[in-house]
Amino acid sequence: MNPVVHAIRRPLATPPAPVSPFPYNPGSLLSVLDLSVDGVSQLLRRAAELENEDPLVRDRILAKRRIALLFYESSTRTRTSFELACKALGADTTLVSSLSSSIEKGESLKDTGLTLRALGAEAIILRHNSSGAAWLLEESTRLPVVNAGDGMHEHPTQALLDLRTILSHLRPGIGEVDEKTLAGVTVMIVGDILHSRVARSNMLLLPRLGARVLLCGPKELLPEQAARSSPGIEIERDFDAALQQSQVVMMLRIQAERLAGLQLDLDEYKASYQLTGQRLAAHAPTSIVLHPGPIIRGMEITAGVADGVQSAILEQVHNGVAIRMAVMERALLESDKGGRA
Ligand code: CP
Repeated sequence: MNPVVHAIRRPLATPPAPVSPFPYNPGSLLSVLDLSVDGVSQLLRRAAELENEDPLVRDRILAKRRIALLFYESSTRTRTSFELACKALGADTTLVSSLSSSIEKGESLKDTGLTLRALGAEAIILRHNSSGAAWLLEESTRLPVVNAGDGMHEHPTQALLDLRTILSHLRPGIGEVDEKTLAGVTVMIVGDILHSRVARSNMLLLPRLGARVLLCGPKELLPEQAARSSPGIEIERDFDAALQQSQVVMMLRIQAERLAGLQLDLDEYKASYQLTGQRLAAHAPTSIVLHPGPIIRGMEITAGVADGVQSAILEQVHNGVAIRMAVMERALLESDKGGRA
């Protein structure tokens, strides 16, 4: 007979997660989670102040500071608005693109970052096709790094400019936000949520201000576990039912470059999830329509809706400059003050 072995019983408690060392540089913005609600509020307030500032005064805020834009992926809105924002504050900018630099010859992200730092860059704005690239660059350079979109992960300044657009319609005149500012507001995000860094940053930001976020899309592009990514997130697969509940309708492009072999029946997709004028008039006649761009007219959204009175898509683009001025001012000034790095 085997001797009885008494197992040592330990409580099944999960050990606390280690505190993330990121960001190393207090000026960095890698994720919307780097900002407290108060930090979000300060950025929104500063964006409004900078937008209304005399251009000749604004021009001195970052006069002659050197900022590199490091872009491994195409961009129209983000790249242009960051560049205009930096220049509006008087900074010197340089663009390094993967298609016209030694990145094409195989130079790594780390070596590219160290090279930019050796050339005098004081901050780097990074767009990269790999999730987490901004963290790697920050760790390598210890410069303030601003994440302008990393793979399928995050796009924090897009979420901030989306928030500014939502507030201007639903909470006009408010200059500050807190945990209850968006109480009672439902923001629906529709389409390719799985591959969307815009969706992820909004899902991490909007519920912290009290909003309910309703995700809508087919199972291939919206897995069930998305509802567990943050409190305040729900899934409603019926597009019309979701529209009826939403004050804000955020449409997303299908990210063909990230589908990795996933086959979608596009006619079926359009029948179920395309935002048409008829659908909007029937189910959400007073909601605002957002889209981070680029929009694919005739796919996720019709031209009539994109150009229609409920569309705030170009307001989003416009808000990008003010938000990015505030983010870049924070990047350099907080970095100057020092801290974790
Ligand atoms: N919204 C957005 O990131 O657009 P771009 O890819 O044009 O920068």
